[in-house]
Amino acid sequence: MFKCLVAWLILLSYSCECSRILAVIPTPSYSHQIAFRKIWAELSKRGHQVTVLTSNPIRDQTLTNLTEIDISYSKDELWVKYDGDHQLQAVENGVLNILELFYDFIYDVSKSVLSSDYFQNLIHNKEEKFDVVLVESFFPEFYVLGKIFNCPVIGVSSMDAPTDYHMFMGNPSHPISHPDLVLPFYRNLNIIERIISTMFNNLIPTYKYFKVELEKQKLLDKYVDFKTNILDLKKSLDLLFVCSHPLLQGVRPLGAATISIGGTTNIEKPKPLPKEIQVFMEKSTQGVIYFSLGTNVKSKALGEETINKLLLTFKNIPYDILWKFEANITSLPKNVMLLNWAPQQDILRHPKTKLFITQGGLQSLQESIFFEIPMMVFPFFGDQMHNAKMIEHKKIGKYFKHKSFHPLEFESAIFQLIKDPKYKSNVLKLKQLILDEPMSGVEKAVWWTEYVIRHKGAKHLANPITELPLYQYYQLDVYSILGALCILIVVMIQKSAKIVFHFCVKLFGRFIIKKEAKTAKNKKLR
Ligand SMILES: *[C@@H]1O[C@H](CO)[C@@H](O)[C@H](O)[C@H]1NC(C)=O
Ligand SMILES: *[C@@H]1O[C@H](CO)[C@@H](O)[C@H](O)[C@H]1NC(C)=O
Repeated sequence: MFKCLVAWLILLSYSCECSRILAVIPTPSYSHQIAFRKIWAELSKRGHQVTVLTSNPIRDQTLTNLTEIDISYSKDELWVKYDGDHQLQAVENGVLNILELFYDFIYDVSKSVLSSDYFQNLIHNKEEKFDVVLVESFFPEFYVLGKIFNCPVIGVSSMDAPTDYHMFMGNPSHPISHPDLVLPFYRNLNIIERIISTMFNNLIPTYKYFKVELEKQKLLDKYVDFKTNILDLKKSLDLLFVCSHPLLQGVRPLGAATISIGGTTNIEKPKPLPKEIQVFMEKSTQGVIYFSLGTNVKSKALGEETINKLLLTFKNIPYDILWKFEANITSLPKNVMLLNWAPQQDILRHPKTKLFITQGGLQSLQESIFFEIPMMVFPFFGDQMHNAKMIEHKKIGKYFKHKSFHPLEFESAIFQLIKDPKYKSNVLKLKQLILDEPMSGVEKAVWWTEYVIRHKGAKHLANPITELPLYQYYQLDVYSILGALCILIVVMIQKSAKIVFHFCVKLFGRFIIKKEAKTAKNKKLR
Protein backbone atom coordinates (compact mmCIF):
# COMPACT_ATOMS: atom_id res chain seq x y z
CA MET A 1 0.00 0.00 0.00
CA PHE A 2 2.76 2.36 1.08
CA LYS A 3 4.83 1.39 -1.98
CA CYS A 4 1.83 2.12 -4.16
CA LEU A 5 1.40 5.53 -2.63
CA VAL A 6 5.07 6.39 -3.11
CA ALA A 7 4.97 5.23 -6.72
CA TRP A 8 1.83 7.28 -7.26
CA LEU A 9 3.42 10.35 -5.68
CA ILE A 10 6.55 9.96 -7.82
CA LEU A 11 4.42 9.59 -10.91
CA LEU A 12 2.39 12.64 -9.95
CA SER A 13 5.44 14.77 -9.30
CA TYR A 14 6.93 13.79 -12.66
CA SER A 15 3.78 14.23 -14.65
CA CYS A 16 3.41 17.76 -13.29
CA GLU A 17 6.71 18.75 -14.82
CA CYS A 18 5.49 19.40 -18.32
CA SER A 19 8.32 20.13 -20.67
CA ARG A 20 8.72 21.30 -24.21
CA ILE A 21 10.31 18.72 -26.47
CA LEU A 22 11.48 19.15 -30.08
CA ALA A 23 12.19 16.17 -32.32
CA VAL A 24 13.71 16.36 -35.81
CA ILE A 25 13.66 13.21 -37.96
CA PRO A 26 14.63 14.41 -41.43
CA THR A 27 14.88 11.09 -43.36
CA PRO A 28 11.79 11.03 -45.58
CA SER A 29 11.23 7.31 -45.18
CA TYR A 30 8.42 5.53 -43.35
CA SER A 31 10.77 3.00 -41.77
CA HIS A 32 12.88 5.75 -40.21
CA GLN A 33 9.78 7.41 -38.78
CA ILE A 34 7.74 4.45 -37.53
CA ALA A 35 10.56 3.54 -35.15
CA PHE A 36 9.80 6.63 -33.02
CA ARG A 37 6.09 7.30 -33.39
CA LYS A 38 5.13 5.54 -30.18
CA ILE A 39 7.74 7.56 -28.29
CA TRP A 40 6.30 10.90 -29.46
CA ALA A 41 2.78 9.74 -28.63
CA GLU A 42 3.80 8.51 -25.19
CA LEU A 43 5.73 11.67 -24.30
CA SER A 44 2.78 13.83 -25.33
CA LYS A 45 0.37 11.69 -23.31
CA ARG A 46 2.53 12.28 -20.28
CA GLY A 47 1.75 15.97 -20.59
CA HIS A 48 4.82 17.20 -22.47
CA GLN A 49 4.39 19.58 -25.37
CA VAL A 50 6.03 17.69 -28.23
CA THR A 51 6.87 19.20 -31.62
CA VAL A 52 8.05 16.75 -34.29
CA LEU A 53 9.44 17.49 -37.75
CA THR A 54 8.53 14.31 -39.62
CA SER A 55 7.82 13.01 -43.10
CA ASN A 56 5.10 10.65 -41.82
CA PRO A 57 2.89 12.37 -39.25
CA ILE A 58 0.69 10.16 -37.05
CA ARG A 59 -2.20 12.61 -37.47
CA ASP A 60 -4.03 11.40 -34.37
CA GLN A 61 -6.53 14.05 -33.21
CA THR A 62 -6.56 12.65 -29.68
CA LEU A 63 -2.87 13.49 -29.19
CA THR A 64 -3.56 17.12 -28.39
CA ASN A 65 -0.08 17.84 -27.01
CA LEU A 66 1.66 16.63 -30.14
CA THR A 67 2.39 19.10 -32.93
CA GLU A 68 3.59 17.50 -36.15
CA ILE A 69 5.26 19.51 -38.88
CA ASP A 70 4.97 17.60 -42.12
CA ILE A 71 8.20 17.66 -44.13
CA SER A 72 6.91 15.10 -46.61
CA TYR A 73 7.08 17.54 -49.50
CA SER A 74 10.78 16.75 -49.67
CA LYS A 75 10.00 13.07 -49.96
CA ASP A 76 8.60 12.86 -53.49
CA GLU A 77 11.22 15.18 -54.89
CA LEU A 78 14.04 13.17 -53.36
CA TRP A 79 12.78 9.70 -54.12
CA VAL A 80 12.40 10.68 -57.75
CA LYS A 81 16.07 11.62 -57.75
CA TYR A 82 17.19 8.49 -55.87
CA ASP A 83 14.68 6.04 -57.28
CA GLY A 84 14.74 2.27 -57.04
CA ASP A 85 16.81 1.63 -60.16
CA HIS A 86 19.49 4.04 -59.06
CA GLN A 87 19.80 2.30 -55.72
CA LEU A 88 19.86 -1.07 -57.34
CA GLN A 89 22.82 -0.11 -59.48
CA ALA A 90 24.65 1.12 -56.44
CA VAL A 91 24.08 -2.20 -54.72
CA GLU A 92 25.59 -4.06 -57.63
CA ASN A 93 28.66 -1.84 -57.40
CA GLY A 94 29.43 -2.44 -53.75
CA VAL A 95 29.47 -0.81 -50.35
CA LEU A 96 31.31 2.40 -51.18
CA ASN A 97 28.84 3.28 -53.91
CA ILE A 98 25.91 2.66 -51.60
CA LEU A 99 27.55 4.87 -49.00
CA GLU A 100 28.22 7.61 -51.52
CA LEU A 101 24.62 7.49 -52.70
CA PHE A 102 23.44 7.55 -49.12
CA TYR A 103 25.65 10.53 -48.31
CA ASP A 104 24.33 12.44 -51.33
CA PHE A 105 20.85 11.57 -50.20
CA ILE A 106 21.23 12.77 -46.61
CA TYR A 107 22.94 15.92 -47.85
CA ASP A 108 19.94 16.73 -50.04
CA VAL A 109 17.53 15.91 -47.22
CA SER A 110 19.47 18.11 -44.86
CA LYS A 111 19.57 21.02 -47.27
CA SER A 112 15.87 20.79 -47.95
CA VAL A 113 14.98 20.88 -44.24
CA LEU A 114 17.55 23.51 -43.20
CA SER A 115 16.48 25.90 -45.93
CA SER A 116 12.75 25.41 -45.37
CA ASP A 117 10.59 28.24 -44.07
CA TYR A 118 9.39 26.35 -41.00
CA PHE A 119 12.94 25.53 -39.93
CA GLN A 120 14.09 29.10 -40.45
CA ASN A 121 11.06 30.41 -38.55
CA LEU A 122 11.73 27.92 -35.76
CA ILE A 123 15.36 28.95 -35.19
CA HIS A 124 14.67 32.66 -35.50
CA ASN A 125 11.68 32.70 -33.20
CA LYS A 126 12.93 34.37 -30.02
CA GLU A 127 9.85 33.18 -28.09
CA GLU A 128 10.59 29.50 -28.75
CA LYS A 129 11.99 27.45 -25.84
CA PHE A 130 12.73 23.74 -25.54
CA ASP A 131 13.93 21.58 -22.66
CA VAL A 132 15.41 18.90 -24.88
CA VAL A 133 15.91 18.27 -28.59
CA LEU A 134 15.90 14.80 -30.17
CA VAL A 135 17.60 14.54 -33.56
CA GLU A 136 17.99 11.65 -35.97
CA SER A 137 21.65 10.89 -35.48
CA PHE A 138 22.52 10.71 -39.20
CA PHE A 139 22.15 14.50 -39.16
CA PRO A 140 24.69 15.95 -36.70
CA GLU A 141 24.22 19.40 -38.25
CA PHE A 142 20.84 19.54 -36.48
CA TYR A 143 22.48 19.02 -33.08
CA VAL A 144 23.09 22.77 -33.36
CA LEU A 145 19.50 23.16 -32.14
CA GLY A 146 20.82 22.31 -28.68
CA LYS A 147 23.07 25.36 -28.84
CA ILE A 148 20.35 27.58 -30.29
CA PHE A 149 17.82 26.64 -27.59
CA ASN A 150 20.47 26.13 -24.94
CA CYS A 151 19.26 22.64 -24.05
CA PRO A 152 20.55 19.05 -24.12
CA VAL A 153 20.44 16.94 -27.31
CA ILE A 154 19.59 13.26 -27.68
CA GLY A 155 20.54 11.46 -30.90
CA VAL A 156 18.13 8.80 -32.14
CA SER A 157 18.82 6.13 -34.74
CA SER A 158 16.16 3.93 -36.31
CA MET A 159 18.74 1.14 -36.57
CA ASP A 160 22.00 0.36 -34.86
CA ALA A 161 24.36 3.34 -35.04
CA PRO A 162 27.20 3.44 -37.59
CA THR A 163 30.67 2.73 -36.23
CA ASP A 164 31.79 6.36 -36.09
CA TYR A 165 28.79 7.29 -33.94
CA HIS A 166 29.63 4.51 -31.53
CA MET A 167 33.21 5.84 -31.45
CA PHE A 168 32.03 9.38 -30.74
CA MET A 169 29.95 8.04 -27.84
CA GLY A 170 33.00 6.18 -26.58
CA ASN A 171 31.58 2.72 -27.28
CA PRO A 172 34.25 0.21 -28.25
CA SER A 173 33.78 -0.87 -31.87
CA HIS A 174 35.84 -3.92 -32.62
CA PRO A 175 35.99 -4.45 -36.39
CA ILE A 176 35.95 -8.26 -36.17
CA SER A 177 33.28 -8.84 -33.55
CA HIS A 178 31.10 -5.90 -34.67
CA PRO A 179 31.61 -4.93 -38.30
CA ASP A 180 29.79 -1.76 -39.36
CA LEU A 181 26.16 -2.33 -40.22
CA VAL A 182 26.56 -1.38 -43.89
CA LEU A 183 29.16 -4.10 -44.39
CA PRO A 184 27.67 -7.41 -45.54
CA PHE A 185 29.31 -9.35 -42.70
CA TYR A 186 27.93 -11.05 -39.61
CA ARG A 187 30.02 -13.40 -37.42
CA ASN A 188 32.77 -15.77 -38.61
CA LEU A 189 34.46 -13.22 -40.87
CA ASN A 190 37.07 -14.66 -43.22
CA ILE A 191 40.49 -13.03 -43.51
CA ILE A 192 39.52 -10.78 -46.45
CA GLU A 193 36.42 -9.60 -44.57
CA ARG A 194 38.49 -8.99 -41.46
CA ILE A 195 40.90 -6.81 -43.44
CA ILE A 196 38.04 -4.87 -45.07
CA SER A 197 36.29 -4.35 -41.74
CA THR A 198 39.47 -3.19 -40.03
CA MET A 199 40.23 -0.71 -42.79
CA PHE A 200 36.62 0.44 -42.81
CA ASN A 201 36.59 1.14 -39.06
CA ASN A 202 39.81 3.11 -39.22
CA LEU A 203 39.10 5.10 -42.34
CA ILE A 204 35.36 5.74 -42.21
CA PRO A 205 35.43 8.83 -39.94
CA THR A 206 37.89 10.57 -42.28
CA TYR A 207 36.13 9.36 -45.42
CA LYS A 208 32.79 10.58 -44.10
CA TYR A 209 34.26 13.91 -43.12
CA PHE A 210 35.57 14.63 -46.60
CA LYS A 211 32.64 13.04 -48.42
CA VAL A 212 29.73 14.65 -46.64
CA GLU A 213 30.49 16.45 -43.41
CA LEU A 214 32.56 19.20 -45.00
CA GLU A 215 29.61 19.90 -47.30
CA LYS A 216 27.25 19.85 -44.35
CA GLN A 217 29.50 22.34 -42.60
CA LYS A 218 28.89 24.70 -45.54
CA LEU A 219 25.15 24.18 -45.15
CA LEU A 220 25.44 25.01 -41.47
CA ASP A 221 27.40 28.18 -42.20
CA LYS A 222 24.84 29.21 -44.78
CA TYR A 223 21.54 28.45 -43.06
CA VAL A 224 22.34 28.69 -39.36
CA ASP A 225 24.09 31.82 -38.17
CA PHE A 226 25.71 30.11 -35.25
CA LYS A 227 29.47 29.63 -35.56
CA THR A 228 30.02 25.97 -34.89
CA ASN A 229 32.03 23.03 -36.12
CA ILE A 230 30.32 19.85 -37.25
CA LEU A 231 32.88 17.59 -35.56
CA ASP A 232 32.32 19.36 -32.25
CA LEU A 233 28.59 18.93 -32.77
CA LYS A 234 29.07 15.22 -33.40
CA LYS A 235 30.68 14.94 -29.98
CA SER A 236 28.03 17.03 -28.26
CA LEU A 237 25.30 14.45 -27.72
CA ASP A 238 24.03 13.90 -24.21
CA LEU A 239 22.55 10.51 -25.03
CA LEU A 240 22.18 8.28 -28.06
CA PHE A 241 19.11 6.06 -28.52
CA VAL A 242 19.71 3.17 -30.92
CA CYS A 243 16.75 1.16 -32.16
CA SER A 244 18.72 -2.03 -32.17
CA HIS A 245 18.41 -4.82 -29.67
CA PRO A 246 21.41 -6.72 -28.30
CA LEU A 247 19.80 -9.99 -29.41
CA LEU A 248 19.43 -8.76 -32.97
CA GLN A 249 22.46 -6.78 -33.99
CA GLY A 250 24.85 -8.44 -31.64
CA VAL A 251 25.62 -8.02 -27.97
CA ARG A 252 28.14 -5.21 -27.81
CA PRO A 253 29.62 -3.00 -25.09
CA LEU A 254 27.66 0.25 -24.75
CA GLY A 255 28.58 3.10 -22.46
CA ALA A 256 26.03 4.51 -20.02
CA ALA A 257 25.06 7.24 -22.49
CA THR A 258 23.94 4.89 -25.26
CA ILE A 259 20.50 3.36 -24.75
CA SER A 260 19.26 0.41 -26.76
CA ILE A 261 15.55 0.92 -27.39
CA GLY A 262 14.92 -1.58 -30.20
CA GLY A 263 12.98 -4.80 -30.27
CA THR A 264 9.35 -3.76 -30.23
CA THR A 265 9.39 0.04 -30.51
CA ASN A 266 7.61 -0.01 -33.87
CA ILE A 267 4.84 -2.49 -33.01
CA GLU A 268 1.47 -0.76 -33.26
CA LYS A 269 -2.04 -1.58 -32.08
CA PRO A 270 -4.01 -4.02 -34.27
CA LYS A 271 -6.38 -2.55 -36.84
CA PRO A 272 -8.96 -4.51 -38.84
CA LEU A 273 -7.72 -5.62 -42.27
CA PRO A 274 -9.27 -4.10 -45.40
CA LYS A 275 -12.16 -6.31 -46.59
CA GLU A 276 -10.43 -7.51 -49.76
CA ILE A 277 -7.31 -8.69 -47.96
CA GLN A 278 -9.35 -10.24 -45.15
CA VAL A 279 -11.36 -12.32 -47.64
CA PHE A 280 -8.23 -13.38 -49.55
CA MET A 281 -6.56 -14.57 -46.36
CA GLU A 282 -9.60 -16.31 -44.90
CA LYS A 283 -10.17 -18.42 -47.98
CA SER A 284 -6.56 -19.60 -48.19
CA THR A 285 -6.37 -23.29 -47.32
CA GLN A 286 -2.60 -23.81 -47.00
CA GLY A 287 -1.58 -20.42 -45.64
CA VAL A 288 -0.40 -17.06 -46.90
CA ILE A 289 3.05 -15.76 -47.82
CA TYR A 290 3.43 -12.01 -47.40
CA PHE A 291 5.92 -10.40 -49.78
CA SER A 292 7.05 -6.80 -49.39
CA LEU A 293 10.32 -5.03 -50.07
CA GLY A 294 9.39 -2.19 -47.74
CA THR A 295 8.74 1.42 -48.57
CA ASN A 296 12.08 2.41 -50.10
CA VAL A 297 12.82 -0.46 -52.47
CA LYS A 298 10.30 -0.50 -55.30
CA SER A 299 9.32 -3.94 -56.55
CA LYS A 300 10.17 -2.87 -60.09
CA ALA A 301 13.79 -2.73 -58.93
CA LEU A 302 13.77 -6.53 -58.96
CA GLY A 303 13.94 -6.49 -62.77
CA GLU A 304 11.76 -8.36 -65.24
CA GLU A 305 13.75 -11.60 -65.18
CA THR A 306 13.55 -11.94 -61.42
CA ILE A 307 9.87 -11.07 -61.38
CA ASN A 308 9.20 -13.82 -63.92
CA LYS A 309 11.21 -16.33 -61.90
CA LEU A 310 9.23 -15.41 -58.81
CA LEU A 311 5.89 -15.70 -60.61
CA LEU A 312 6.84 -19.12 -61.94
CA THR A 313 7.64 -20.33 -58.44
CA PHE A 314 4.50 -18.83 -56.94
CA LYS A 315 2.40 -20.58 -59.58
CA ASN A 316 3.80 -23.96 -58.49
CA ILE A 317 3.29 -23.72 -54.76
CA PRO A 318 0.09 -24.41 -52.80
CA TYR A 319 0.30 -21.18 -50.77
CA ASP A 320 -1.41 -17.86 -51.44
CA ILE A 321 0.77 -14.81 -51.88
CA LEU A 322 0.03 -11.22 -50.85
CA TRP A 323 2.56 -9.14 -52.74
CA LYS A 324 3.07 -5.44 -52.11
CA PHE A 325 3.90 -4.40 -55.65
CA GLU A 326 3.59 -0.90 -57.08
CA ALA A 327 2.80 -1.84 -60.66
CA ASN A 328 0.42 -4.15 -62.55
CA ILE A 329 1.40 -7.60 -63.76
CA THR A 330 -0.39 -9.16 -66.69
CA SER A 331 -1.36 -12.84 -66.39
CA LEU A 332 -1.02 -13.02 -62.63
CA PRO A 333 -1.30 -16.54 -61.11
CA LYS A 334 -4.61 -17.12 -59.28
CA ASN A 335 -2.96 -17.51 -55.89
CA VAL A 336 -1.22 -14.12 -56.03
CA MET A 337 -2.81 -10.82 -55.03
CA LEU A 338 -1.00 -7.54 -55.65
CA LEU A 339 -1.33 -4.69 -53.17
CA ASN A 340 -0.42 -1.10 -53.80
CA TRP A 341 -0.18 -0.49 -50.11
CA ALA A 342 -0.22 -3.09 -47.34
CA PRO A 343 -1.10 -2.91 -43.64
CA GLN A 344 2.03 -4.93 -42.90
CA GLN A 345 1.67 -5.51 -39.17
CA ASP A 346 -1.97 -6.60 -39.48
CA ILE A 347 -1.12 -9.05 -42.26
CA LEU A 348 1.76 -10.50 -40.24
CA ARG A 349 -0.51 -10.72 -37.22
CA HIS A 350 -3.06 -12.87 -39.12
CA PRO A 351 -2.90 -16.58 -38.13
CA LYS A 352 -2.88 -17.70 -41.79
CA THR A 353 0.43 -15.93 -42.48
CA LYS A 354 3.25 -18.50 -42.76
CA LEU A 355 6.21 -16.66 -44.25
CA PHE A 356 7.44 -13.12 -44.82
CA ILE A 357 9.53 -12.39 -47.91
CA THR A 358 11.27 -9.11 -47.10
CA GLN A 359 14.18 -6.87 -48.05
CA GLY A 360 15.49 -7.36 -44.50
CA GLY A 361 15.10 -3.85 -43.07
CA LEU A 362 15.34 -3.75 -39.29
CA GLN A 363 11.74 -2.63 -38.73
CA SER A 364 10.35 -5.45 -40.89
CA LEU A 365 12.62 -7.91 -39.15
CA GLN A 366 11.41 -6.83 -35.72
CA GLU A 367 7.80 -7.09 -36.82
CA SER A 368 8.34 -10.54 -38.26
CA ILE A 369 9.86 -11.75 -35.01
CA PHE A 370 7.13 -10.14 -32.92
CA PHE A 371 4.45 -11.89 -34.98
CA GLU A 372 6.46 -15.16 -34.98
CA ILE A 373 6.91 -15.46 -38.75
CA PRO A 374 10.06 -16.97 -40.34
CA MET A 375 11.67 -14.83 -43.04
CA MET A 376 13.04 -15.08 -46.54
CA VAL A 377 15.29 -12.11 -47.29
CA PHE A 378 16.21 -10.40 -50.57
CA PRO A 379 18.64 -7.75 -49.29
CA PHE A 380 19.20 -4.51 -51.21
CA PHE A 381 21.13 -1.80 -49.36
CA GLY A 382 21.94 -0.23 -46.01
CA ASP A 383 21.97 -2.76 -43.16
CA GLN A 384 19.90 -5.29 -45.12
CA MET A 385 22.75 -7.60 -46.15
CA HIS A 386 24.04 -7.59 -42.59
CA ASN A 387 20.55 -8.41 -41.31
CA ALA A 388 20.11 -11.15 -43.91
CA LYS A 389 23.23 -12.92 -42.70
CA MET A 390 22.14 -12.48 -39.11
CA ILE A 391 18.76 -14.06 -39.88
CA GLU A 392 20.42 -17.07 -41.44
CA HIS A 393 22.89 -17.32 -38.55
CA LYS A 394 20.03 -17.36 -36.04
CA LYS A 395 18.16 -19.94 -38.14
CA ILE A 396 14.99 -17.88 -38.30
CA GLY A 397 15.06 -17.62 -42.07
CA LYS A 398 17.15 -17.74 -45.23
CA TYR A 399 18.42 -15.20 -47.69
CA PHE A 400 18.77 -15.11 -51.46
CA LYS A 401 20.49 -12.73 -53.83
CA HIS A 402 17.66 -11.38 -55.96
CA LYS A 403 19.86 -11.16 -59.05
CA SER A 404 21.14 -14.69 -59.06
CA PHE A 405 18.94 -17.11 -57.12
CA HIS A 406 17.91 -20.45 -58.55
CA PRO A 407 14.11 -20.91 -58.78
CA LEU A 408 14.20 -24.52 -57.58
CA GLU A 409 16.33 -23.66 -54.55
CA PHE A 410 14.01 -20.77 -53.83
CA GLU A 411 10.99 -23.05 -54.01
CA SER A 412 12.48 -25.70 -51.77
CA ALA A 413 13.51 -22.98 -49.27
CA ILE A 414 9.91 -21.80 -49.12
CA PHE A 415 8.73 -25.31 -48.25
CA GLN A 416 11.50 -25.76 -45.74
CA LEU A 417 10.81 -22.46 -43.95
CA ILE A 418 7.10 -23.23 -43.71
CA LYS A 419 7.20 -26.96 -42.97
CA ASP A 420 10.28 -27.37 -40.78
CA PRO A 421 9.07 -26.46 -37.25
CA LYS A 422 12.61 -25.45 -36.27
CA TYR A 423 12.27 -22.04 -37.92
CA LYS A 424 9.00 -21.14 -36.24
CA SER A 425 10.23 -22.29 -32.83
CA ASN A 426 13.50 -20.35 -33.20
CA VAL A 427 11.55 -17.18 -33.99
CA LEU A 428 9.27 -17.78 -31.02
CA LYS A 429 12.22 -18.31 -28.69
CA LEU A 430 13.92 -15.14 -29.91
CA LYS A 431 10.70 -13.19 -29.42
CA GLN A 432 10.35 -14.44 -25.85
CA LEU A 433 13.92 -13.39 -25.07
CA ILE A 434 13.41 -9.94 -26.61
CA LEU A 435 10.19 -9.33 -24.68
CA ASP A 436 11.71 -10.46 -21.38
CA GLU A 437 13.27 -7.20 -20.16
CA PRO A 438 12.46 -4.86 -17.28
CA MET A 439 11.33 -1.99 -19.52
CA SER A 440 10.20 -1.91 -23.13
CA GLY A 441 12.10 0.21 -25.65
CA VAL A 442 9.43 2.93 -25.58
CA GLU A 443 9.45 3.02 -21.77
CA LYS A 444 13.24 3.33 -21.76
CA ALA A 445 13.15 6.13 -24.34
CA VAL A 446 10.52 8.05 -22.34
CA TRP A 447 12.29 7.53 -19.02
CA TRP A 448 15.69 8.62 -20.34
CA THR A 449 14.24 11.64 -22.14
CA GLU A 450 12.69 12.80 -18.86
CA TYR A 451 15.95 12.01 -17.07
CA VAL A 452 17.81 14.36 -19.43
CA ILE A 453 15.16 17.03 -18.85
CA ARG A 454 15.31 16.63 -15.06
CA HIS A 455 19.10 16.94 -14.94
CA LYS A 456 19.44 19.42 -17.81
CA GLY A 457 21.70 17.03 -19.70
CA ALA A 458 23.58 13.80 -19.19
CA LYS A 459 27.19 14.79 -19.84
CA HIS A 460 28.03 13.17 -16.49
CA LEU A 461 27.37 9.80 -18.17
CA ALA A 462 29.85 10.40 -20.97
CA ASN A 463 32.70 7.96 -21.35
CA PRO A 464 35.86 9.97 -20.49
CA ILE A 465 37.45 8.45 -23.60
CA THR A 466 35.45 10.98 -25.67
CA GLU A 467 37.43 13.86 -24.19
CA LEU A 468 40.82 12.48 -25.15
CA PRO A 469 42.75 14.08 -28.01
CA LEU A 470 43.41 11.64 -30.86
CA TYR A 471 47.05 11.06 -29.97
CA GLN A 472 45.99 9.95 -26.50
CA TYR A 473 43.02 7.94 -27.80
CA TYR A 474 45.32 5.89 -30.01
CA GLN A 475 48.01 5.96 -27.27
CA LEU A 476 50.47 7.27 -29.85
CA ASP A 477 52.56 9.02 -27.18
CA VAL A 478 52.59 5.96 -24.95
CA TYR A 479 53.58 3.58 -27.72
CA SER A 480 56.18 6.04 -29.05
CA ILE A 481 57.87 6.27 -25.65
CA LEU A 482 57.60 2.52 -25.05
CA GLY A 483 58.91 1.91 -28.57
CA ALA A 484 61.82 4.28 -28.03
CA LEU A 485 62.59 2.55 -24.73
CA CYS A 486 62.55 -0.83 -26.45
CA ILE A 487 64.93 0.41 -29.10
CA LEU A 488 67.16 1.90 -26.40
CA ILE A 489 67.21 -1.36 -24.49
CA VAL A 490 67.98 -3.36 -27.62
CA VAL A 491 70.78 -0.97 -28.54
CA MET A 492 72.17 -1.14 -24.99
CA ILE A 493 72.05 -4.94 -24.97
CA GLN A 494 73.77 -4.98 -28.33
CA LYS A 495 76.44 -2.55 -27.17
CA SER A 496 77.13 -4.38 -23.91
CA ALA A 497 77.16 -7.71 -25.73
CA LYS A 498 79.86 -6.32 -27.97
CA ILE A 499 81.90 -5.11 -24.99
CA VAL A 500 81.56 -8.46 -23.23
CA PHE A 501 82.49 -10.22 -26.44
CA HIS A 502 85.61 -8.13 -26.94
CA PHE A 503 86.56 -8.62 -23.32
CA CYS A 504 86.16 -12.38 -23.68
CA VAL A 505 88.12 -12.45 -26.87
CA LYS A 506 90.95 -10.55 -25.21
CA LEU A 507 90.88 -12.71 -22.09
CA PHE A 508 90.70 -15.99 -23.96
CA GLY A 509 93.16 -14.70 -26.49
CA ARG A 510 95.68 -14.00 -23.77
CA PHE A 511 94.94 -17.33 -22.13
CA ILE A 512 95.39 -19.22 -25.38
CA ILE A 513 98.57 -17.35 -26.25
CA LYS A 514 99.92 -18.07 -22.76
CA LYS A 515 99.00 -21.73 -23.07
CA GLU A 516 100.57 -21.97 -26.50
CA ALA A 517 103.67 -20.26 -25.25
CA LYS A 518 103.77 -22.70 -22.35
CA THR A 519 103.47 -25.79 -24.57
CA ALA A 520 106.09 -24.35 -26.89
CA LYS A 521 108.36 -23.82 -23.89
CA ASN A 522 107.71 -27.39 -22.70
CA LYS A 523 108.52 -28.70 -26.17
CA LYS A 524 111.74 -26.73 -26.15
CA LEU A 525 112.72 -28.05 -22.72
CA ARG A 526 112.35 -31.59 -23.92
C1 LIG B 1 -1.72 17.41 -22.49
O1 LIG B 1 -0.90 17.94 -21.47
C2 LIG B 1 -1.56 18.29 -20.31
C3 LIG B 1 -0.56 18.91 -19.36
O2 LIG B 1 0.29 19.77 -20.05
C4 LIG B 1 -2.20 17.07 -19.67
O3 LIG B 1 -2.92 17.42 -18.52
C5 LIG B 1 -3.14 16.43 -20.70
O4 LIG B 1 -3.64 15.22 -20.18
C6 LIG B 1 -2.41 16.15 -21.99
N1 LIG B 1 -3.35 15.70 -22.99
C7 LIG B 1 -3.26 14.53 -23.61
C8 LIG B 1 -4.34 14.23 -24.60
O5 LIG B 1 -2.40 13.72 -23.42
C1 LIG C 1 -3.23 -1.07 -62.59
O1 LIG C 1 -4.43 -1.30 -63.29
C2 LIG C 1 -5.56 -0.61 -62.79
C3 LIG C 1 -6.77 -0.97 -63.61
O2 LIG C 1 -6.81 -2.32 -63.92
C4 LIG C 1 -5.31 0.88 -62.83
O3 LIG C 1 -6.40 1.56 -62.24
C5 LIG C 1 -4.04 1.21 -62.07
O4 LIG C 1 -3.74 2.58 -62.20
C6 LIG C 1 -2.88 0.40 -62.61
N1 LIG C 1 -1.71 0.66 -61.76
C7 LIG C 1 -0.49 0.93 -62.24
C8 LIG C 1 0.57 1.22 -61.24
O5 LIG C 1 -0.24 0.94 -63.42
